[in-house]
Amino acid sequence: MSLFLRKPITVERDRGLVRVLGVGDLIMLSIGAVIGAGIFASLGTAAAGDVAADGTVIRAGAGPALIISFVLLGVVCGLAALCYAELASMIPTSGSAYAYTYATPGDPVAWIIGWALILEYAIGNIAVAIAWSSYFDSLLSGFGINLPGWLTHGYLQAKMSTVPEIHALLETAPRPFGFPILLNVPAFMIVGLVTVLLCLGVKESTRANNIMVVIKLLVLALFVGVGVMHIDPDNYRPFAPNGFRGIHQGAAIVFFAYIGFDAISTAAEETKDPQRNLPRGILLGLAVCTLIYVVVGAVATGLVPYLQLKSADPLAHALELAGLKTASWIVSLGAVVSMTAVLLVFQYGQPRIFFAMARDGLLPKWAAKIHPKWRTPHITTIVTGLVVAAGALFAEENTIYELTNIGTLAAFSMVCLGVLVLRIREPDRPRPFRVPAVWLVALGGAAACLFVMKGLPIRTWVMFAIWLTIGLVLYFTYGYRHSVVRTGKPVVVDELDGAH
Ligand code: ALA
Repeated sequence: MSLFLRKPITVERDRGLVRVLGVGDLIMLSIGAVIGAGIFASLGTAAAGDVAADGTVIRAGAGPALIISFVLLGVVCGLAALCYAELASMIPTSGSAYAYTYATPGDPVAWIIGWALILEYAIGNIAVAIAWSSYFDSLLSGFGINLPGWLTHGYLQAKMSTVPEIHALLETAPRPFGFPILLNVPAFMIVGLVTVLLCLGVKESTRANNIMVVIKLLVLALFVGVGVMHIDPDNYRPFAPNGFRGIHQGAAIVFFAYIGFDAISTAAEETKDPQRNLPRGILLGLAVCTLIYVVVGAVATGLVPYLQLKSADPLAHALELAGLKTASWIVSLGAVVSMTAVLLVFQYGQPRIFFAMARDGLLPKWAAKIHPKWRTPHITTIVTGLVVAAGALFAEENTIYELTNIGTLAAFSMVCLGVLVLRIREPDRPRPFRVPAVWLVALGGAAACLFVMKGLPIRTWVMFAIWLTIGLVLYFTYGYRHSVVRTGKPVVVDELDGAH
C-alpha cells in the first residue's frame, strides 16, 4: 500500500539528500571543480591566441600578460563570489544561481538562468572531457602507446582546428560511407565512468575527489618548482604583444579556469551548517585557485616563448620543450587526474540543478526523484551523463569553452543583481553572510561580468542567443503551464516511481 502514497515534495526533501559535507569538503570540492581544463588546456589558446590559415585573427593572445588576465578575473570572480556567498547562506538549497534567481525575480528569469547553467555544467564538461582526452593521449604516448588520431578527436575538433596535423585527420580518417569517422572515444568513456561513480552516491564521490585534489596540487607544485628554475627572462618580452585587447580576449577564454567556485553552492542541501560553511568554502576556494593560476601562468610563459604554448597540453608541452621530459609526463598524469575531479563536480552539480527545477515544476517531476538506496538523483545523473558523453564524442573545445563562459558569466551577473534586489525587497530577512559595500560589489560584479563577455567572439553571442531562444520556447510550452508559483500546486513525487 505504502508504495502508492504520494507525499508533498517538501517531505521528500527532508528525507532525500543527506547532509554529509563540511567546510573542508567544500573547499576540496571547489578546488576539484575549479582547477582543470582551464589552466591545463585553455591557457595555451589564451596566451598564444588563434589565427586561421588565411591570417584572420580568431582570438588575440594575451602573451605573458596572461597573468594580468588572471588577476583581473580573480577580481571579477571575487565580486561574484561575495554575492554567491550571501545568497547561498540565505537560500541554502540545491540549484545555485537558479535557486537564487527564483527567490528574486522568479520565473521565467529563473528558468533562463537554469537554462544558462546547463551551459556551465553539462556543456562545460564536454570541453573538460575533450581536454582530458588530449592529456590522456599524451600520457599513453609516454608509454609508447599511440592511439590513432581518428579515435581521439571528434569530427568538429578536426574540422575547426587551426593546427595542420589535426585538421589533416579529416583526410586520413577511415571513410566507410564516404564520410570521415572521427570520434573522441576516451572523452566518451571517462564521462561514462564518472556517471556511474556519481550514481552510487555523494560520499564515495567526495572521497575520490579529495584524493584527486591533493594529487593535482602536488603536480602543479612540481610544475612550478621545476619550471621556475628554467625561466628565461627574454620570454617575458614583449610582455603584452596584443596590448589590452589580448589581455581581454585571453581573459574571456581562460575565464573557464575560474568556473566552479560557485558549483559548491549546488551542494547546499548536502552541507552541514550551510549558513556558516558555504560562504567560507566559496571564498577560500576562490582565493587559493587565483593564487595558483597567477603563479602557474607566470612560470608557463617564462618557460617558453608564449606562441609555443599553443598546444592541446600546454603545460606538459612547455616542460618538454624545456627538456624536462619526466616532469612533463608527471604533469600529464596530474592533468588527467585533475580533470577527472572537475568532471565529477560538474556531473554532480547538473542533476541537482535539474532536481531543483523539477521541484519548482519547471521540469517534469521524474527529474526530482532520489534513488531509495543510493540517495542520489540518479535519473538526471544518467541523462546528464548521456548528453555530455555524446557531445564529447564530436565537439570542438574552443567553441565549447566560449559558450560555457558566456552562459556562466550571464548567470554570475544575474546573481550579483539578485543580491541587490533581495536587499531592497526583503531588507529584514536574516543574512548569515552580508556582502560588504553591497552597491559597489553587486553593480561592479555585474558590470565586470558583462565586460568579460564582451571579449568573446560574435559567433559565441549568436550561439548564446539561439540557446536562450530554445530555452524560452521550452519555458512557454512546458514550464509556464506547470510552474509551482503559477499553478499553486506543489510537485509530488510518486513513491512507486522512486522505489524501483
Ligand atoms: N574551471 C574548470 C576547469 O578549468 C571548469 O576545468
